[in-house]
Amino acid sequence: MPDPQRDIKDLYVYEPNQLENSSPFEVFLAHTDEKEQLGKLLVDRISQLPSTEIALLDVGCGDGSLAASLLAGLTEKDTSYTGIDPVQFNIDKAAANLQHTHSEIQLRTVGFEDFQAPTKYDVIIASNLYHLGEHEVVDFIHRLQTMLLSTGVGYFIYRDDQDDILTMRQQFESRLYEDFRLPRTARMVINACLSNDITIDNISRLEASIHIPDDKKLKAKILEFIFNRTLDSMPETMQSDIDHFVTARKNTFTTAQKILQFKP
Ligand SMILES: C[S@@+](CC[C@H](N)C(=O)[O-])C[C@H]1O[C@@H](n2cnc3c(N)ncnc32)[C@H](O)[C@@H]1O
Repeated sequence: MPDPQRDIKDLYVYEPNQLENSSPFEVFLAHTDEKEQLGKLLVDRISQLPSTEIALLDVGCGDGSLAASLLAGLTEKDTSYTGIDPVQFNIDKAAANLQHTHSEIQLRTVGFEDFQAPTKYDVIIASNLYHLGEHEVVDFIHRLQTMLLSTGVGYFIYRDDQDDILTMRQQFESRLYEDFRLPRTARMVINACLSNDITIDNISRLEASIHIPDDKKLKAKILEFIFNRTLDSMPETMQSDIDHFVTARKNTFTTAQKILQFKP
């Protein structure tokens, strides 16, 4: 039986001696309520769907941390969950993180472009998929629409423009990379859809926070996750500017995601 009290933090209970084995993403997750909040919002939405049986597809499921939070709350639905991700390491993590859920779980190591959907879905989730290129987002959403049942609903989750992580990346990566371009935001996705006659509704803006611990190694891992490179690989002046950026915000970042909804 699943433990209803079990939430995402249980997956990432952090012991200092686990640091060497924890990925930057895991350390990040242990210090933010982002995924839990998103999980709760999606539970709330999906619970309102009339069907008691839900076939759910999670594209780019990563380590299953969002799914774990979501499925733990969807106790009133008979949910069959399919998570796809091209990275075997993520799928292995997801299998471990989802082993206690009561839902039917299917995990597949496959990129979306090669995924042949065996069925249509009641719910599709695509959260934080930043690998999508500038012109791919619209085709991507269009294809997701074809995988939905006529009563189905899709959720596309992306960072809002007002988000401390984006602000920080913009400030420092623009100094690191000549060809730096700010990652796409929810607003850009909405505009791209609009100009291609795809209806995608902004249904919610979710604020969450990330607490950056004082512990030097933990802090470095979280920043490594955010910048996708180690702090040590950055010039020393930049390292100390980043430190100022963090302390100016009292070690707490406010982040925001937009939940965009589409129908078939
Ligand atoms: C930032 S993570 C987000 C994970 C999860 N959706 C979440 O919100 O926590 C992006 C994920 O997309 C996956 N990904 C990368 N290329 C993909 C592709 N072609 N098809 C599906 N997923 C892909 C990555 O492996 C990674 O797990």
